[in-house]
Amino acid sequence: MKTRKFFRHWVDVEPILIRSAKPLEEMMSEDRPSRRSFVDWILGAGITGSLASFLYPVLKFVIPPPVAEAIELNVVAATVEELPPNTAKIFKFGRRPGLIVNTPAGELRAFDGICTHLNCTVQYREDFGQIWCACHNGLYDLSGKNISGPPPRPLPRLNVAVRGNEIVVSRES
Ligand code: FES
Repeated sequence: MKTRKFFRHWVDVEPILIRSAKPLEEMMSEDRPSRRSFVDWILGAGITGSLASFLYPVLKFVIPPPVAEAIELNVVAATVEELPPNTAKIFKFGRRPGLIVNTPAGELRAFDGICTHLNCTVQYREDFGQIWCACHNGLYDLSGKNISGPPPRPLPRLNVAVRGNEIVVSRES
């Protein structure tokens, strides 16, 4: 009795199972590609990331950066009347001090106003006609050359032009 009941049940259910159930290989093959593709994606991303992290610095080294355009700085340092021979003036040149000197011979010369030793601001000494750094008694001549004391290098020269009444100092950087 029980066997017959089971058999009848099996007859009713079995076709549904057969129709709806997928073969084991098909089920596994559906499952595998998604896992495999995920692992492939992870590996691909890792390899791509590694290659990029290696190639980026190499390319940055090989390909030079674009050269910055030269910026010309022009400053009105003084008026002609302000600078008789054997006088000087410290002026603001960008973010640094500049020094404009009218030599005893009446020639205008301009320099970066920062001492090449330890960055003190230099000044013109009218009494001995040289550029002097008070911090450690450094001396420069009127061409900007370091001639005495600790300064290791000459003062950088700046361009000077007189435009009407104005003395204009410039530098290309
Ligand atoms: S900072 Fe000018 S001599 Fe030292």
